[in-house]
Amino acid sequence: MINKKTALIGGGALALAGAVMLGLVIQANSTARSQVANDSVRLSDFKSSDAALIKQGEYVMRGADCAACHTAKNGDFAGGYVIGTPFGDIQSSNITPDRETGIGNYTQRDFFNAVRQGQGRHGLLFPAMPYTDYTRMSDDDLRALWAFFSTLEPKAHKVDELAGMNFPFNQRLLMAGWNWLFFDNQPFAPEPAQSPEWNRGRYLVDGAGHCAACHSPRNALGGPIARQALQGGLVGTWFAPNITNDAHLGLGDSTVEQIVDYLKTGSDGVAVASGPMAEAIENSTQHLSDEDLRAIAVYLKSLPGAPQPAPAALATSDARMQHGGQGYEVHCSACHGTEGEGVSHMITGFAGNKAILAGNTDTLTSVVLAGARAVHTHTYVTGAGMPAFDWKLSDGEIADILTFARNSWGNSAPAVTTEEVAKMRKQLDLPAQMRASVQ
Ligand code: HEC
Ligand code: HEC
Ligand code: HEC
Repeated sequence: MINKKTALIGGGALALAGAVMLGLVIQANSTARSQVANDSVRLSDFKSSDAALIKQGEYVMRGADCAACHTAKNGDFAGGYVIGTPFGDIQSSNITPDRETGIGNYTQRDFFNAVRQGQGRHGLLFPAMPYTDYTRMSDDDLRALWAFFSTLEPKAHKVDELAGMNFPFNQRLLMAGWNWLFFDNQPFAPEPAQSPEWNRGRYLVDGAGHCAACHSPRNALGGPIARQALQGGLVGTWFAPNITNDAHLGLGDSTVEQIVDYLKTGSDGVAVASGPMAEAIENSTQHLSDEDLRAIAVYLKSLPGAPQPAPAALATSDARMQHGGQGYEVHCSACHGTEGEGVSHMITGFAGNKAILAGNTDTLTSVVLAGARAVHTHTYVTGAGMPAFDWKLSDGEIADILTFARNSWGNSAPAVTTEEVAKMRKQLDLPAQMRASVQ
């Protein structure tokens, strides 16, 4: 029997194949943009000695978080980091200057084309590499990045990027179609009516910072949905919440200072970053200057989002609220506080924490089932731990406790269902994951 998902993916593959031809035609014109200083030298034959440029390149690398995806256990930038997608697992490339297995053979133009246009050594890259955002990065930033990469040690480590992708999604040609449908191959265009600070913020958010890679929803083919930009997206078993100025689900109640605090330290005093955002803060945003973080916050605060009226909170007499309230008191209140106040900068507060109200409850269910490690940054060196409750609480108990937290202390959000928790328990497949980690 062909289920709905297979049909959708099959239909999607056909649509992509159809778009391939058109994509190829347009592709031919797309490389003209890069302004390259020197296009004959290969990365492995060149070591920049311009200390200021290398330093700028390292800063750009931090903002773009290249290390997050290109560093696995094989050492810095040697690739092999696995990213799960609905179409199979993709691995990141070795981007050290090794000639055989890395990008040692690249010229500066090749480098620009890979990072900004998604054209790699073996053909078109998959958008798991966020060239769709990096396309907004400036020539200056790319030149600096190139200088920085020239100083890296070559590491021999062969990666077969697409080995874990399912047919037909292991065909690079398909990406010509994907690019034609979804790749907005445009350099950053400043808005003259806005302040330089706002424009800098937009440049960082939409370009190097690739915040949309996690915070924007995607369609069935993994393409962006422009009108829902930054209104919340899925990353594995996590939900990256709405970071527009939406007052109920987004950053509407947060000040610019609180957003800067979160990106710099991992906490604004109430929310404490965990999961993929903890990694993004540790590797990337904590290294940015205060001016750049402010610019990011100012830009995010200017985005209207698509606000919906807040729902009414469930009545305290509701059976789920009663049951959940008892469970909360026994299992959660010691850390998260009897009034959901948490512990400032250490344990997530629930009262007034928008991430707790999201329409998608994946972060909530996965964190309660599997536990989490909070962010640790230069400011807060030891992150606290959230224990796993999968062995202790039933799906129904977890659902009611979360429903209670989402509808107490001024919060209001739809109830969490037993089915949502059961689905996440299955998706996490905890015993198998624990086996994998002790190997
Ligand atoms: C979100 C994860 C992610 C981030 C962040 C990321 N990459 Fe990648 N990158 C990938 C993946 C996955 C691939 C392999 C894609 C493919 O083979 O289709 C890749 C491929 C590449 C390639 C192509 C290598 C080749 O063999 O041709 C280059 C070059 C590259 N990345 C450079 C960078 C740089 C520079 C940065 C930072 C500015 C960066 N990447 C940030 C995931 C990422
Ligand atoms: C790798 C995925 C990923 C990337 C890239 C990413 N985020 Fe996040 N972000 C998340 C997740 C997941 C959360 C929820 C964390 C939690 O609940 O603890 C989050 C939470 C946040 C929050 C807190 C929202 C709230 O309501 O508490 C802010 C603000 C934020 N991110 C801003 C950014 C900005 C700005 C960027 C780009 C510079 C960015 N993020 C890039 C995944 C990501
Ligand atoms: C031993 C202390 C402790 C207990 C008990 C505890 N938590 Fe936590 N919890 C934490 C810490 C610390 C964090 C922050 C870590 C992080 O963000 O990864 C956290 C984070 C969370 C988050 C993630 C919020 C987000 O968006 O990042 C949720 C949801 C959560 N806890 C729910 C619960 C529930 C429900 C209970 C009771 C069943 C509970 N916790 C019991 C310490 C605890």
